[in-house]
Amino acid sequence: MAYAATPTGTGAHPVASIQDTETPAQRDARMAWWRAARYGMFIHWGVYAVPAGVWHGKPVDGAGEWIMHDARIPVADYQQLPAQFDPTRFDAHAWVSLAKAAGMKYIVITAKHHDGFAMFDSKASAFNIVDATPFKRDPLRELADEAQRQGIRFGLYYSQDQDWTAPGGAAFGGHWDKAQDGDFATYLHTKAIPQIRELLEKYHPAVLWFDTPTPDMTPQLAAEIVKLLDRYPQLIWNNRLGGGYPGDTETPEQHIPPQGFPGKDWETCMTINGTWGYKSNDTDFKSTTVLLHNLVDIASKGGNYLLNVGPDAQGVIPPPEAERLQAIGQWLKVNGESIYGTGPTPFADPHGRYSATQKDASGKPAWVPTWDWRATRRPGKVYIHLFEWPTGAFHLADAKLHATGAYLLADPRHTPLAFAQHGAQLDVQLPAKPLDPIDTVLVITTADPVPR
Ligand code: GLC
Repeated sequence: MAYAATPTGTGAHPVASIQDTETPAQRDARMAWWRAARYGMFIHWGVYAVPAGVWHGKPVDGAGEWIMHDARIPVADYQQLPAQFDPTRFDAHAWVSLAKAAGMKYIVITAKHHDGFAMFDSKASAFNIVDATPFKRDPLRELADEAQRQGIRFGLYYSQDQDWTAPGGAAFGGHWDKAQDGDFATYLHTKAIPQIRELLEKYHPAVLWFDTPTPDMTPQLAAEIVKLLDRYPQLIWNNRLGGGYPGDTETPEQHIPPQGFPGKDWETCMTINGTWGYKSNDTDFKSTTVLLHNLVDIASKGGNYLLNVGPDAQGVIPPPEAERLQAIGQWLKVNGESIYGTGPTPFADPHGRYSATQKDASGKPAWVPTWDWRATRRPGKVYIHLFEWPTGAFHLADAKLHATGAYLLADPRHTPLAFAQHGAQLDVQLPAKPLDPIDTVLVITTADPVPR
């Protein structure tokens, strides 16, 4: 269904967005692939990979893609970096093949981050990878075409508000170089909106991932971007545009909300080490166990996991990141049915508690998860993800379902397991050893069309 005219505004929205006008059924249809996907690849790649977290010989704290801000690099100095950016080892086929092998169903890559450098052939600004580097190729073109070839959805991250090298672009904490001063609306009209239009028209992204809205982004200015987005009625975009537009998805970052966002679409984005953009000195990679448990925990709460890789200045995804993704992909090859297209746990067990002593970053009681097991479901089946292997039997106290069978998903013969149910008490006899050291999935078939 094409939105020919821009619908009139509703309330705080000077221009109605698709979320304002579509029916719940239209929204379900538009979000269907994304909800079923559960798992995507975030890619933070830009000219910040050249310094890679080090400036004038000194390591710079903070994320790699924030180096210009955190080291207060003058605009003229930062603008020297593209001349050193020649990622000749970049291989779109390899990157997309890795995402596929990892079991990821969509890719979201940075088209322009807060530093203002465009990773695509942009007519709106010459500060881009085709015009300003010896590389001269358009990696978004190559990735979009390869994603199409390999049947994986292609999305784009765009920093619509912060831009540290364009006059008038916003900067958290304020500008540090007079060259950054200017009018925000002029920046939006001469760079950000033209580039968003280029991205939509040239690369046809399935997802647009906005970031760090500031008070500069008024409802009226955001509405000018929404007018563009409304022309793409299948486009999915997140809650970070600004101007009072909620978008489609909540975007918890670097953490998994204890209860998710019941009834909402949400996606935890997370790094494998501690930085989004490449840093040569960040080798603190999360283990495959932690990353896979995170994926299952998120799916058990009805969310998506957007897991990040940060390629280096040669165009290579750090091997420790690729290795972890490959390992998770192997697990998904066998057990993907328990993740893709599933719904959240039907059980009340929160698998954790709020600490009486520890506080989180916001000063509230910290959530302390237990990594015993999780559950996901689809009609007629409940998947029990056993992180710890019970001795003898798996015991469920509030089954609230009518079990008709049980087997281990990784058992190619789906050998029936003995089980006994008395009311809400369910016990399933298990073999002595798990089939997977990180997560062995116990399938309970149920008579209920959709478990309560
Ligand atoms: C934060 C960071 C940004 C990163 C984003 C990913 O907003 O500022 O660098 O791209 O998180 O969610």
